[in-house]
Amino acid sequence: MARSLGRLLCLCLMLCLMVGHLLIYVVVSIFVIISYHPSEVPVHFVAPGASSNSAELAAHPLHPFWNLRLDSGALWNHLQHPRDRLHNPILRGNDSSVAKGLNPPVEARPQDGVPACGLDRSWVPHLPDFDSFPDQMRDFVLSMHCTEYPLMLNQPGLCGEGGAGEGPALLIAVKSQTPNFESRQAIRQTWGASGWVKGEAGGPGGLVRTVFLLGRQDGSTGVHPELGELLEVESRRHGDILQWDFRDTFFNLTLKDVLFWRWFSANCPRARFVFKGDDDVFLRTRTLLDYLRQLEEERLNGTGGAWDFVVGDVISNAFPNRQPSDKYYIPESFYKGSYPAYAGGGGVVYSGELALHLREVSHRVLLFPIDDVYVGMCLHRLGISPTHHPGFMTFDLPEEDRGKTCAYHSVLLVHKRTPKEVLRLWSELQTPPPPC
Ligand SMILES: *[C@@H]1O[C@H](CO)[C@@H](O)[C@H](O)[C@H]1NC(C)=O
Ligand SMILES: *[C@@H]1O[C@H](CO)[C@@H](O)[C@H](O)[C@H]1NC(C)=O
Ligand SMILES: *[C@@H]1O[C@H](CO)[C@@H](O)[C@H](O)[C@H]1NC(C)=O
Repeated sequence: MARSLGRLLCLCLMLCLMVGHLLIYVVVSIFVIISYHPSEVPVHFVAPGASSNSAELAAHPLHPFWNLRLDSGALWNHLQHPRDRLHNPILRGNDSSVAKGLNPPVEARPQDGVPACGLDRSWVPHLPDFDSFPDQMRDFVLSMHCTEYPLMLNQPGLCGEGGAGEGPALLIAVKSQTPNFESRQAIRQTWGASGWVKGEAGGPGGLVRTVFLLGRQDGSTGVHPELGELLEVESRRHGDILQWDFRDTFFNLTLKDVLFWRWFSANCPRARFVFKGDDDVFLRTRTLLDYLRQLEEERLNGTGGAWDFVVGDVISNAFPNRQPSDKYYIPESFYKGSYPAYAGGGGVVYSGELALHLREVSHRVLLFPIDDVYVGMCLHRLGISPTHHPGFMTFDLPEEDRGKTCAYHSVLLVHKRTPKEVLRLWSELQTPPPPC
């Protein structure tokens, strides 16, 4: 009797246990079904190459580039926000209620009486401390609506007529200023020599073209000697000067990027790679060509992935400089937040395809006074992270290594070098490396 009662109890217990499990299973599956939402967010793009922590993949953006909350405190954020929303693939959709809440996009703003590219004071009332800004910041605010400046010196045939033909392997674009004749000449004689350049390690190399990017610097833009005629002679002699009609100042450097991308799409769209940098750097062009060749091979072998790639000395998690006396000072009322990851402007390499995409996206990113940060902002909106390469020494080698030729064999680029140092380094690096 007791035994059969025990058996019955056991059976009951087992039944209860099974039903309990079934219940848990049903509840969990219902929960999973309810909480599932098909993801509408496009998968973020992962650039190929090496990042600082992984040899396989670059770090990719953790957050989508848009921000629903408007940071209304700062002018740049305030003006950029509607642009980002307007180009947001999800928010744009078919929902007109979103569009109605927007400020008019900035490009639709030309007002009566304001010439397309004159100074525009209409944003000044948004900046309570405008009068205390440094001169360069004030100049920037008054002209930041304008990205149209005519070319004064052009080189339409640099990459072949109408950009036809195969295009150079590497287009070197160097930011320069009118009086830097010596730097430009040193670059032409060394790392920026146009023509077929062989690779360092016996690689096939490729066709290199060099162009210098200048604004205007003469009596009409400040206290400058009139060197325009000399520049014209230089341009006729070498055929490598691009000059636009805007004041060549530090906060106008971003214009060189934007205008260069436009020139590139019209005149050199088939260049496979672009190097963009300063005229006081030293670039190991032959080593760079080997490196790029290797990347192309990897891509052809199907391991390289997509081809929007950018490499340089990557700076992440940087914040705007808030020291009013500093060259890089950005007032809080102008920009809030951190900077996206960007490659230091001393020298950066990207694919020609990416240059075309940057040109597209630059139409929807308001000018920012610091050029390399601006490129980072554009990359951010393309969903691309710059790849770090330790060979880009935009902050120079350690002091004790600068005199050693040996130390240069592991670098791609060093900043900063005088024209004399560039010539000396170049000739020293022609001979095969001594055992280091
Ligand atoms: C907007 O909705 C209409 C129909 O309501 C549809 O035909 C159209 O493709 C949609 N457009 C977009 C961009 O989704
Ligand atoms: C940039 O160039 C424009 C056109 O020459 C000029 O009006 C503006 O003041 C310049 N901006 C800065 C920050 O120098
Ligand atoms: C690409 O493939 C070729 C032949 O299949 C091979 O010789 C070469 O080493 C590969 N290159 C790289 C970078 O993987």
